[in-house]
Order: sequence, then structure tokens, then C-alpha cells
Amino acid sequence: MTDLLRSRVQGSAPRRVDGPAKVTGTAPYANDQPVPSPAYAWLVQAEVARGVLTRVDVASALALDGVSLVLTPDNAPRLADTDDTDTDAELAALQSPEVSFRGQVVAVVVADSPETARHAASLVHVEIDQRPHDVHLDADRDDLYAPEQVNGGFETDTAQGDVPAALEQAAHVVDQTYTTAWYNNNPMEPHATTALWSDGELLLYESTQGVHTTREAVAKTLGLPLEQVHVVSPHVGGGFGAKGTPHVHTILAAMAARAVPGTPVKLALTRQQMFSLVGYRTPTIQRVRLGCAADGRLTAIAVDAVSQTSRIKEFAEQTAVPSRTMYAAPHRRSTHRLAALDVPVPSWMRAPGECPGMFGPEVALDELAVACGVDPVEFRVRNEPVVEPDSGKPFSSRNLIACLHEGARRFGWAGRDPSPGVREEAGWLVGTGVAASTYPVNVMPGSAATVRHTGAGRYRVEIGAADLGTGTWTALAQIAADALGVDFADVDLRIGDTALPKATVAGGSSGIGSWGSTVVAAARAFREKFGDHPADGDQTGAATPEPSAADEYAMHAFGAQFAEVRVHADTGEVRVPRLLGVFAVGRVVNPRLARSQLIGGMTMGLSMALHEQSLLDERFGHVLNHDFAEYHIATNSDVPDVEAHWVDEHDPHTNPMGTKGIGEIGIVGTAAAIVNAAYHATGVRVRDLPLTLDHFL
Ligand code: MOS
Repeated sequence: MTDLLRSRVQGSAPRRVDGPAKVTGTAPYANDQPVPSPAYAWLVQAEVARGVLTRVDVASALALDGVSLVLTPDNAPRLADTDDTDTDAELAALQSPEVSFRGQVVAVVVADSPETARHAASLVHVEIDQRPHDVHLDADRDDLYAPEQVNGGFETDTAQGDVPAALEQAAHVVDQTYTTAWYNNNPMEPHATTALWSDGELLLYESTQGVHTTREAVAKTLGLPLEQVHVVSPHVGGGFGAKGTPHVHTILAAMAARAVPGTPVKLALTRQQMFSLVGYRTPTIQRVRLGCAADGRLTAIAVDAVSQTSRIKEFAEQTAVPSRTMYAAPHRRSTHRLAALDVPVPSWMRAPGECPGMFGPEVALDELAVACGVDPVEFRVRNEPVVEPDSGKPFSSRNLIACLHEGARRFGWAGRDPSPGVREEAGWLVGTGVAASTYPVNVMPGSAATVRHTGAGRYRVEIGAADLGTGTWTALAQIAADALGVDFADVDLRIGDTALPKATVAGGSSGIGSWGSTVVAAARAFREKFGDHPADGDQTGAATPEPSAADEYAMHAFGAQFAEVRVHADTGEVRVPRLLGVFAVGRVVNPRLARSQLIGGMTMGLSMALHEQSLLDERFGHVLNHDFAEYHIATNSDVPDVEAHWVDEHDPHTNPMGTKGIGEIGIVGTAAAIVNAAYHATGVRVRDLPLTLDHFL
């Protein structure tokens, strides 16, 4: 058990310290960094999903005034680890004539203006010997395979007891297939890199969730010592996982800069290019089987998940993993299977695993509650496990029931008539629904921080962490202030630069927990060494402490999501006038920022429920609706009323602050709550997202 850091500045709600710079347009994003006389890169992408490049003719492009360079597989420098077995195939830019997905980069043009570069790119003539491609995801494919493990290092399959026998004997059974769509990450700031090569060193201004992780990947791929790569990223306009690992454009920008030493090269992806080059959430097909006794106690939980990966690089979404944590049942099974397709590489998107993986089971649970005639809030309460079902570990804290009860109270759940399709108001069918949320507490080892007294009671705290727009600049300074026993205004935090001590990636909702632990350790070391009256310039540092209890306890955040849905009786139009979430997320460092994270997640969950869906044209292997005109994302008018609350939760095991990650849990369960409410409104059970009006006609 850790000695929890006393809270004085934590719990207060300062506004984002970076807010004024952002809203006045002076915060430098990766593509805005003022560099002298930059050149501009533009990408040429393959227009078929599979084939072999036979000719890339760059003569007309090169002939254009202002074009300095066209890199293709014919002339691109060989990358360091192209033949290495653990090559990241996604980053192997221009290393092979093979085309493995539609949108793959086949050339990059560098010119003195973005317009010239773009025009020149259109003049590059590409010939591809096309091969048959296969982009069709289906749970009946006979080439599905079991990966060695799934993301997060989890076991591919788990089994306990005898699921078929338990289902045979169950009083009520649900056996249904649920699907989630292909979703593309669409942070407000598109991916961008400004690269500068001088004196054998590479400087990257990058939009990334981790400067140090980007540095490592770039150095390895280019065969450079770490010290020769410098990555700077003070502000990031959202990432949602798409900036959690570097993608090929970062390598291309670095390659181009190396080819024109002394000239900075700017490469900004367009929104359309992002749909094939920066990862996406794989579609999932989830067969869920649940069985329960007559009193509504679950006897069997089985989740068999199928998703896709690319042929060039495996990505195994851990869709069935949350089912290992959520509810008690003696007979259990979870499996993952993958189809390797001629598609872009899937990657992280907000709550990978939990977000799609809580959809099927939480809708299935609603179906089972209806079958048993038990209220869906009560049904979940009845199936609360004593310990984490799969691991047998006690929970460090688990307040799902408190969230369900507090949510029910705030939402006005009491007295709900369970009958579906019976409430109509002015032509709209009205219903309410509930679903649970969960997200693991991840504390990553491997960060370091320094604390320096700069005089007059002011402290500089340095750690190469990231702020995606989520509030790191502010929340981490609050933690540092408490750890040093000073005011918020006395802390000068520095993040977002590899010149600062190493920090782990802003991923898996692990940022504040991991970096905060490290900052607390550094502050404690400082106070131990220099006492309460340090001299100017006193400085010390520390690394992330070993999490003391990670092996003993199952650590997760939980939540309960409530939704009101209206479906128009004639047109099938779906509206969500009300969303309310109550979460148990440990200590809340900054209520203003926490609320923003949680309602942001819930809004993204609503967007997933109602609108988002990347539509693949299987004939050509590309996402058709690859822009904001056609890939619909929830707008303000879609979300009239969204509320996020939290219960008091004291968890002494997660980290010295007692926090749990809050960046991702808000999206988990939202779509299921909305689908369950739509059933209550209409009596129509939708199992395939999104919840478009045709389901109700
Ligand atoms: Mo988050 S999808 O782990 O960046």
C-alpha cells in the first residue's frame, strides 16, 4: 500500500495553463513551428489494394519549377532494419515495390511550396502490376487465425468450467452476434511532422502522444543513435491513439529532410490521407453467449471475437478481454481470432479492447435481463464478482455498484416501466437504457523526472511527457505542487521534448498515473535531500517507482452509463436527448479537466453509436467516406445534455496519488447504453452499429 499524497492543489480546478496560447492561436503545433525557408513534402499513394510497382516515373514531377526531390522505392535510402525480424513493417517507407494496401505511400515529392509539391505529386506516374486483393472481414472465413497473444500482452483464449453444459442447463440464454464498425481516429489536428537535418542530427517537430517513444522508433528505423534524434511536441491537437506510435509519414519526413540537409521539410497529412496512414479501429464481430439461472445469476459467459489485421503487421485488438473482468460466472470462455487482410494497419483508438469489447456483452446482458424480467441495473448488481473472475485477484477498488446506484438516482431510473415500445411523445418513441464501463489502471515503468529549485520558492519540474489537449500541462503541475508542498503557481512544468527526462507514451490512460508517480518520486527525493529550504539551483531526479501492488490486485476503473433515446415513430430518426455517466476513477486531480475527459469520451461513444462508420469499398479496398463530409461525427446538436459525475473513491494501491486513468473510460459502454435505450423505446433490438434509422423501419 502506498502512502497517498496529501491533496491540497489536487482536487482544485485551475483552467488549462496552455489554454490562452491555444485559443489565441499562438501555441505552436507541429506544422506551425517557425522554421527558416522550409520545403514541403507531398505523398503519392497507391490506388490499388495489392500489387507490385513496376514503374514510378518522376520525370514530369521533377521538371516542375521548385521541385527539389522525389523519393520512390527506386532511390529511397535503405532503412537500417529492413531485414531485421522485428522490423516495424508499417514504418518501412519506400523499401519495397510491394503494394500491400490501398493508400500505401509509393513516392514523396519535396518542393518549395505545398501547392507545387501537391501538383508535382499528381504528375508522378505510377504503374502497378495489380494482384487480387482480399479485404472482406467475415467470422466464417476459414483462414482466421489465433494470434500468439492479443494487445496488452493478454492471453488469446481463456476457458474455465464447461460453457456448453452450463448453457444447456441455464434457465435463460442469449446467443447472439454483435458487430462494431470500422472507425477512423479523427483528432482535430491532422498528423504533421516538421523535420530538420543538420550536422548529422535530426530534429522533428511532431504531433505525437510520446516524444521519447517517437525518438526510439525513428532512431531504430533510420539506424541512428538515440542522441542524434531530437523530438519536440509541446502541444497536440488530439490523438485518440492515432498518435500513440509514429506512422510512416514521420519516417518519410525524416528521409526527405536527410536528403536536403539544412532545409527543414514540412509534411502535413490531409484528412483523407489519415484514413489510410495513421491506423484505425478494426471492425469486430462478437459472438456472445450468456446463460443465467432463474434468479438472474449468470452461470456462463462466452465471448468469441473476430477482428482484422493487416497482412504486413499484426494488430490484435483485445476485444474479449473486458469480459474476463466484469461479471461473476463459474463457466467462462473468451477467444480472439484474426483475419489478415490487404488493408491498412489497424492501431489504437480510444479504449482499444474495452470500447468495442464492452458493446456486445453489455447489449447481451440487457437482452438477458429482459428475458429474466429483472431490471438491468439490478441484473448487473446481482452479478457483481467478489474477486476478478479470470485472475482470482482482489480488486484494488471496485465501485461499479455505487456508480450504478448513483447513476440511477441522478438519472431518475426508479419506477421505470420495463415494457418496450410503449411510450410515445408527439410522434417519438421514448426509452431509457443502461450499460457498464470499465478500463484498466495502467502504470507504465520507464519515466524519469527532475526537480530544480530555481530560486524564491519556485520549482522547475521536467519530464518528457505529452499533452494531447487533455490537460497534462495543468494536472501534472498540480501533482508536482502537492508533492513539493508549494502553490500551483510556483511550479514551472516542462514537457513535450526529448531534451527532458524520458517519459512513457500518453496511451492506455496511463499518463497521469505513470508520470505523476515519477514526479512525486522526484519531489520526495528532492525534499529528502534538500529539506524545506533549498538553495537556488538545487536539483535532483528520480525514475518511476516500482508499482508496489500491481501483482496483488486487479486494478480497474468502472462506470455506469445511462441514456435516453427517442426514435421517431414514422421516420426512424434517432435522438439522444440525455446521457449521464457516473464513474469510479480514484482521486480526481482536476475536476474541470476530468469532466472534460469524461464527457468527451461519452460524446465519442454517442458518435460511435449513431454515426461513425468507415465504409469499405471491397472492390477497391479503400474507405469511401474518407472526409468530414461523409464520415459523420457527432456535433453539438447531437448532444443536448451530457453529464459526467464520479463517486468518491479512495484507492491506496494504484499510485501515490490514488488516481485511475480517465482518458478512455468515458467512451466505454456508451454505445451499449444507447442501443439498450433504443430497444426500450421501440422493441427493436439492434446488434450492429451504427444505430441508423433503417434499423427501425
Ligand atoms: Mo489511447 S487509444 O491508449 O492512445
